[in-house]
Order: sequence, then structure tokens, then C-alpha cells
Amino acid sequence: MNYRHAFHAGNHADVLKHVVLLALIEALQRKATPFVVLDTHAGRGRYALHDASARRTGEADTGALRVLGAKPEAIAIRRYQDALRRCNPDGGLRIYPGSPLLTAMAMRDDDRLICFETQPDEARALAALFARDHRVHVQHGDGYAAIKALLPPKPRRGLVLIDPPYETQEAEFGAVLAALAEGLQRWPQGIFAVWFPIKQRRSLQRFLRAVALLPAKDILLAELLIRPDDTPLRLNGSAMLLLNPPWKLDAEIAAALPALAAEFGETGASHRLEWLRRETTG
Ligand SMILES: C[S@@+](CC[C@H](N)C(=O)[O-])C[C@H]1O[C@@H](n2cnc3c(N)ncnc32)[C@H](O)[C@@H]1O
Repeated sequence: MNYRHAFHAGNHADVLKHVVLLALIEALQRKATPFVVLDTHAGRGRYALHDASARRTGEADTGALRVLGAKPEAIAIRRYQDALRRCNPDGGLRIYPGSPLLTAMAMRDDDRLICFETQPDEARALAALFARDHRVHVQHGDGYAAIKALLPPKPRRGLVLIDPPYETQEAEFGAVLAALAEGLQRWPQGIFAVWFPIKQRRSLQRFLRAVALLPAKDILLAELLIRPDDTPLRLNGSAMLLLNPPWKLDAEIAAALPALAAEFGETGASHRLEWLRRETTG
């Protein structure tokens, strides 16, 4: 396993993922009852963009930093900008918050976050970040196994974020599908959010056909491409799959996607929001 998220922190894929994540958490907070977030592939939680890994790629410069400088109308993007500013009170973007930190910053006192991470030093850094936060539990271990071991959670309200590295894409798609099938069987009402990379569209069709057959009531796909999806070796864009998304979340994402595409747009940037399945009306 070679993947280090520090090389990619704050890139366009993180922006999409984290804009959607914060919208999901906001939606969960519409009710006073507490919720649980299981972050199966959590990373180290916080990335120093001036350190050697992030500087080498500079991916945040064309991702989060651009969004931070924009003046968006979409509430989902403004919420994300606010979170970045809270992590960088002196201005600029030196610290990029990963999914666990963004979640913890948005949570209330009785909400809970459970994080899994397999790389020992990433897990250690994450545990240190939350050492004094009684709401957050960090586990050094396999996030897919956590779906079997921990679902359904108590309370039975909340979200599972699945954000693997896709080092071998086909194998990871298989693992994600198995995890979703298991997770939905254990917790049919749970919200499941899955990030995946888009390189060549052809290689996604089989995965998406299998996703559409999963037993969730509603399945929403939100895609953001920064260039056409025909360059096999590049991260041309990415997507979030949302199973059982909260009510009206689609409208928030629909408002954010065009603004993000405009911000990142090389030639051929595009976006798509599509229901792969929709049973709930209203
Ligand atoms: C894309 S990064 C996660 C980024 C994080 N979710 C965020 O948004 O800030 C993927 C992480 O998953 C970890 N990982 C890989 N396989 C795993 C597994 N089976 N269980 C838990 N973590 C895993 C990697 O070490 C890496 O830190």
C-alpha cells in the first residue's frame, strides 16, 4: 500500500467529496436526535499544505485554494469555504481539513464519529488529533470490516463515508460493492456515501450498473469532471454516490456542481447529477 493522501489533499476530488460531506452532515442536523458517522477510510484528518508531500504536487492550488477565492451563491460551497477558513484563521490555506476533521467540526456534542485507517502513522496522527475529543473514536484497522462489525450503529441514524484509495481500481470497486451490500443488509435506512475516481468512463459502466441494483430506496450520483473523461492515466474527475440521501440534498448539490465546474474548468469541464434509482417521491 503506497497511497498517501497528503499528496492529493485539497485537490478537485477532495473539494467535491467534502462539499457533499458537509451538506450531508447539515441535513442530518435538521433533526435534534443525535447521529453517528462511520468514516471507513479516514486518513490523518489534517494536512499541512506546506509540507513536502503536498508541495510536491501542489494539487490544492488548483482545487481548494481556487474555491476559497470564489464568491459562490451555492450554500453548499459557502459552508465548505467557512470550514476551510475556520482551519486557517490567519487567512490563506496552510491547513487542509480531511473528512474526519470536517465532520468533527460540524458535529454537535452528542453526535459521534468513528474512524478507521489502516496505515499506522496515519492512524496515529488521527488519534492524536482527536485525543481530547470524547465524540470521536479512532481505530487502526480495516474500514470494510467495520461495516460488518459495527452496523447498525446506535443510535440508528447517520452516515457511512467510504473513501478508499482505489490503488487497483477493479478490486476496489468489488470491495465497495460488497461493503454496500453488507451495509444495506445490516442497516437499510443508513446513508452511504462513496467517493470514486473517474479516469476513463468505459471502466465505470459495470460498477454503476451493479450499484443501481443495490437495495437502497434512492441512489444519487454526483459527478464533477475537470476535463473530458478519455485520458486513462489521469484523474479527470470524480464522483460521489449517495445511497438513501437525505431529502432535498439533491437540490443543494445541483446548485453547487455548475459553480465548481466553472471554478475548475479546463477545457471540457462538466458535471452531472443523476438518480440511479428513485423510489421516494416529494
Ligand atoms: C483517500 S484517503 C482518505 C481521505 C479522507 N477520507 C479524507 O477525505 O480526508 C484513503 C485512506 O484509506 C486508507 N486505507 C486504505 N485501505 C484501507 C482500509 N481497508 N481500511 C481503512 N483505511 C484504509 C489509506 O491509508 C488512506 O489514508
